[in-house]
Amino acid sequence: MKPKIIRTIAELRHEINHYRLNAGTIKSTVGFVPTMGYLHEGHASLLRRSAADNGLTVLSIFVNPLQFGPNEDLDKYPRDEEHDIRIASQAGTDLIFIPEVKEMYPQRNVTEVTVEEITDRLCGSSRPGHFNGVATVVTKLFNIVQPNRAYFGLKDAQQIAVISRMVRDLNIPVEIVPCPTIRENDGLALSSRNVFLGQEERRQALVLSRTLSKVTDWIAGGMTAPQLIAQIAEEIRREPLADIDYADVLNYPDLSLLPSQLPLQQASGSLIIALAVRFGKTRLIDNRLLIPVEVGEY
Ligand code: PAF
Repeated sequence: MKPKIIRTIAELRHEINHYRLNAGTIKSTVGFVPTMGYLHEGHASLLRRSAADNGLTVLSIFVNPLQFGPNEDLDKYPRDEEHDIRIASQAGTDLIFIPEVKEMYPQRNVTEVTVEEITDRLCGSSRPGHFNGVATVVTKLFNIVQPNRAYFGLKDAQQIAVISRMVRDLNIPVEIVPCPTIRENDGLALSSRNVFLGQEERRQALVLSRTLSKVTDWIAGGMTAPQLIAQIAEEIRREPLADIDYADVLNYPDLSLLPSQLPLQQASGSLIIALAVRFGKTRLIDNRLLIPVEVGEY
C-alpha cells in the first residue's frame, strides 16, 4: 500500500493515535526510522526491519538545520522527495512525515539536549554542536511519534551511542535498534553524500573499507591503540586524495580512551575503529565494531 504523506505534527499525532486505538493487541507497536532523506538501500533496510517488527512503520524525512555547522553542507544536502517516497513504499512504510523547518522549529529554539562525554571525540570534536542538534531533533521526533522502537544504522555508530545514552538518561520509553551498515559490492558504506564523489574520489574512497578489513589482523599482531592508529593513517594516506579528519580506536559505546600501552587484543570490552576522511569536498565516515562474542553481534 502507498504510504501516507504527512507534513504537520498535528496530523501525524492524529494518524498514530488512530492506529493505536484501532490496532488491537497483535503487533500494535510503532516502529520509527528518522532520516534526512535521499534514501538508499541502508535506509530501506531499516524500514524493512521496522515493518517486520511492528504493526506501523513511520519514516521521517527532515534535513535538520540544527545539526549542521556554519560552514557545512546544509544548503547542498541532497534532496529528492519523489525518489524517497518510492523507496519508502517499496520497503513497507506506512506513514512518511516530511515537515518544513518552520513546522519543527516555529520559533528559535532556546531549549537544547546536550549529551556530554560521548560527544567529546570523533564527529563530536570535529563537528562542534552537531550532536546537540541531533539529540535535540531526535528528542522532538521521539516526543512527536512516541515509537516503541527506533531504527538506526551502525555506520553512524557514535550517533547510536549518543542516542542510546540520551534515551537511558532521560527515561525515554523507546527501544533503540542498531542495524548493520549496508555497503556497495566493492565495500563502500552507503551514504547519501556518496553522490558528491567524483569518479576518482569514489575509487580512492574504497581505502576506508579496505583499511577497516585489515584491523583485526593488525590487532592480532599485538598492536596498541597508538600503533593501530598510526598504521591506519599510513594505509589511508597511500591514496593521494584522502585527507584524514580523524582515525581512532576507542571503547564502545562509551567512547573512552584505551590505555596506550595495552595490546588491543587484551582489551576486555567492545571496541570501535572509527574513520572520517575527506575526498575533495566530501567527508565520509566509516567504522568497524569489534564486539566480544559473548556480548553478541550488532
Ligand atoms: O542520521 C541521520 O540521518 C540524522 O542524524 C537524524 C538521526 C535523522 C537526525 O536528524
